[in-house]
Amino acid sequence: MPIPPRSEFARHWSLSTDVTVLNHGSFGACPTAVLAEQAAIRARLEANPTGFYFDERPRAWRSALEATAAFINADPAGIAFQINATAAVNTVLKSLTFEPGDEILVLDHAYQACRNTVEAVAARDRARVVVAAIPFPPTSPEAVIEGVMERVTDRTRLALIDAVTSPTAIRLPFERLTRDLEARGVDVVLDAAHGAGIVPLDVSALGAAYVATNCHKWLCTPKAAGVLTVRSDRRDRIRPLITSHGASIPGPPEARFRNEHDWPGTIDPTPWLCIGAAIEHLGGLLAGGWPAIIERNRDLAIRARDILAEALGTTAVVPDEMMAAMATLAIEPDPTGTARPALAPDPLMIDLLERYRTQVVVFSWPYHRARYLRVSAALYNSEAEYRHLAAALRELGVNGAAGT
Ligand SMILES: Cc1ncc(COP(=O)(O)O)c(C=O)c1O
Repeated sequence: MPIPPRSEFARHWSLSTDVTVLNHGSFGACPTAVLAEQAAIRARLEANPTGFYFDERPRAWRSALEATAAFINADPAGIAFQINATAAVNTVLKSLTFEPGDEILVLDHAYQACRNTVEAVAARDRARVVVAAIPFPPTSPEAVIEGVMERVTDRTRLALIDAVTSPTAIRLPFERLTRDLEARGVDVVLDAAHGAGIVPLDVSALGAAYVATNCHKWLCTPKAAGVLTVRSDRRDRIRPLITSHGASIPGPPEARFRNEHDWPGTIDPTPWLCIGAAIEHLGGLLAGGWPAIIERNRDLAIRARDILAEALGTTAVVPDEMMAAMATLAIEPDPTGTARPALAPDPLMIDLLERYRTQVVVFSWPYHRARYLRVSAALYNSEAEYRHLAAALRELGVNGAAGT
């Protein structure tokens, strides 16, 4: 089958032309103009390392904090840059301590790396991990809220809630969940790894104690641009994963947060320093700016969901109101029945790549005893690409599965 055409926006990326990229969600993809900005910053850094780290970096870092804060409506004073969302969730969990018997609430759709972090901290402190189950496909936002809130007890201290779930691509009612949990006295860690650039994210309105997000996924910055926001009443509790010079610089608590989080030692700061450029560049590609990008990509994911559901012969789909720019469908179990470690690719993923030059994600998800196929809808994607995938799935004889 010939490679299908991408959208008119694809010219802004340098994606390889011999593959259909339907997995923006895992690692993002950075446009050429933003990569050029990163290369220019790196060239200045390497031309004068000492001058760069002492002079340009602090100024550029402050601008990056401000650009990020403006995009997600957060207080720049409460932002700590992280290499990724996993690091942001680790920073929060490993800064906190729990009493034996305290409960940490997670969803059965939680990203495994973040769930592992919760499990490790709970085991350290003899706290309990309580898992709220969400069916796939979910019936409504209200049913999800009910299912989560009924697991809250007077021992619940913290809840890890996803903005858009990783394996199942469900846009959760995270605003209402956060409000209800915080109102019950439960601190929320919002895992918005799929957050900035895929859903409207207003950190101040949200009121979560902690928000972890990524810029390298849906804001399309260079890799390793994660963000943690910490509410003002929690900043004195959160220490960076790396103890560095900031720990011995005297000053008030606000200064300590900045000193500790801004300098982990020598790092490549260019991914964060490109956040402003990425926001501006992509936001300028559509007349309606970022709200239009979010809507366009979501609409495309809904079309992808429908095209793939038809090819797979399933009606078990995530409702429109719980969709963002990714679509997941449950498929029949792997016929080889082989259990694979978390990072090993599913045979269907390999077949689709090798025989049809198409990149998607296929996960076997132990918590649901299910197998999921996930596609993403980024600006460079077109409807023709999902039709191509649908034809490949038909040819391979892949069938959908009922929900859980
Ligand atoms: C919900 C969720 N949390 C965390 C992550 C981890 O993101 P990163 O690899 O950038 O740390 C992902 C990645 O896909 C995710 O989907």
